[in-house]
Amino acid sequence: MYRDKTCGELRIEDCGKEVTLSGWVQRTRKMGGMTFVDIRDRYGITQVVFNNEVNEELCESANKLGREFVIQVKGTVAERSSKNNNIPTGEIEIIASALTILNKSDVPPFTIEDNTDGGDDLRMKYRYLDLRRPAVRSNIELRHKMAFEIRRYLDSENFLEIETPILVKSTPEGARDFIVPSRMNPGEFYALPQSPQLFKQLLMVSGFDRYFQIAKCFRDEDLRADRQPEFTQIDCEMSYVEQDDVIMMFEGLVKHIFKYVKGIEFNDKFQRITWHDAMKYYGSDKPDMRFDMKFVELTDLVKGKGFAVMDDAELTVGICAKGCAGYTRKQTDELTDFVKRPQIGAKGLVWVKIDEQGGIKSSVGKFFTDEQIKEWADRMGAENGDLLLIMSGDAMKTRKMLCELRLEMGNRMGLRDKNVFAPLWVVDFPLFEWDEETQRYYAMHHPFTSPNPEDIPLLTTDPGKVRATAYDIVVNGTELGGGSIRIHDSELQDQMFEILGFTKEKAQEQFGFLMSAFRYGAPPHGGLALGFDRFVSILAGLDSIRDVIAFPKNNSGRDVMNESPSPIDPAQIDELNLAITLPQE
Ligand code: AMO
Repeated sequence: MYRDKTCGELRIEDCGKEVTLSGWVQRTRKMGGMTFVDIRDRYGITQVVFNNEVNEELCESANKLGREFVIQVKGTVAERSSKNNNIPTGEIEIIASALTILNKSDVPPFTIEDNTDGGDDLRMKYRYLDLRRPAVRSNIELRHKMAFEIRRYLDSENFLEIETPILVKSTPEGARDFIVPSRMNPGEFYALPQSPQLFKQLLMVSGFDRYFQIAKCFRDEDLRADRQPEFTQIDCEMSYVEQDDVIMMFEGLVKHIFKYVKGIEFNDKFQRITWHDAMKYYGSDKPDMRFDMKFVELTDLVKGKGFAVMDDAELTVGICAKGCAGYTRKQTDELTDFVKRPQIGAKGLVWVKIDEQGGIKSSVGKFFTDEQIKEWADRMGAENGDLLLIMSGDAMKTRKMLCELRLEMGNRMGLRDKNVFAPLWVVDFPLFEWDEETQRYYAMHHPFTSPNPEDIPLLTTDPGKVRATAYDIVVNGTELGGGSIRIHDSELQDQMFEILGFTKEKAQEQFGFLMSAFRYGAPPHGGLALGFDRFVSILAGLDSIRDVIAFPKNNSGRDVMNESPSPIDPAQIDELNLAITLPQE
């Protein structure tokens, strides 16, 4: 028997018990004739004491222990004279009677502590050691707990967990596919699924009615803090549902997770906003609703007053930062520099300060009278002490820029508390997106998304105006998930393909199997997928999903631990009938 207790469970009530613990050496300290060893496992840390006067040989062995040695200790639980209130086992220690080294360890490249001395790259290279750190481990534990609660909720709602293939035919979800050559079918390739989209729709045709899967998805796209090339979705599909049925079911799931994992209860329905309003008032289809600071349009008030920037602009729009009129020149300059950064690309920023006495100071005092500026302030609901931040230009671009500034102000004003959660449904997305470069429409979601029935006549006259029956769930400015009601009518699907520029042959080649299936009685259906990694990182209060994935990739899509991707053996390349041409330097 290696152990009968863990390193996290002994308390003052256990004093006098003979116990055996196994774990890693966190650290050793010599003090006079005593050696203290902290032994650590997944459950916690316990202090073990070796007394030179009682057993010299045993104490000698303890003195030789290195960090991360794996040891077994036998001894008696005793009350500590100097207690450590920072850890649950801090009132006791083990008076050692035996010590076995189960395995030695090289000196680890960084300390296995929450505040480690290891940088990001080093920790990723030795991820198996990084995972020993309590902070990282607790993220993985949270992930497990959430997966468990997701299954519990969905099972109670009659969902069946069904696996779908990983080697698939390419599906059009907007990102690039990862592809896998087929040895048995020379010159042919599988794709790794960007999501199980088509399979889950086929499962509805098969009559499974309520499907879910905690599914691995693969997308070859540019990576960011909330994007990994392989990630996990809570993927779901339901038959005989309308938009509201799906929304309420998954609102229930999100509430269940918050309640049972985080102890937070949402009693009210989640807020809903149309895509149009989200863009108009927040400049984003994933607004952070932890704070207000809505956009207010000023175009009509500012035009024609001789200030070219505003005269020429399609849109002038601003936000009111409550209580920020005291910002110094340096601070307003910082904000201007912020919006001028290449990632945002604004040409400038107009600010107006309304001091505590109602006096107005602005960066455009030359062009506008105080009375005119007062009109802006009134429309923006500004009071004495507020700061107005205003931007002008092309409507969509300006909204996106102001969105960044709103978030920045949210940060500066401490309005984006990680312990506050503001879920939101964004509905009525446009069905299509127009692409200037290729001069054609693309599906904003995917080609199987159903148009809003009221807008079907517009499909032929004004496709850009058609709303989709598609919805996203957003939490704290992160798109947590999205889905739609699907088209189950072949004629409507054909019309969609036509608008999207698919020839009959191309549509048949790509989705023939789905189209065939739909000829055999496809029920009305719809669903959604939540990003599981994002969900865990939101609950853990983290900025990057990397921290909630046991073995993540870095921003170049590399696993620096196992050094993948890597070249393969020439024999393997031959066997796959491939020829590799590397790009010229
Ligand atoms: P969508 O593409 O919106 O929808 O993806 C659903 C959710 O998956 C998460 N997600 C990601 N997470 C980490 N890294 C990525 N690269 C990444 N890409 C997406 C997001 C996103 O909201 N088949 C449809 C769903 C449906 O219609 O039912 C789909 O995949 O949280």
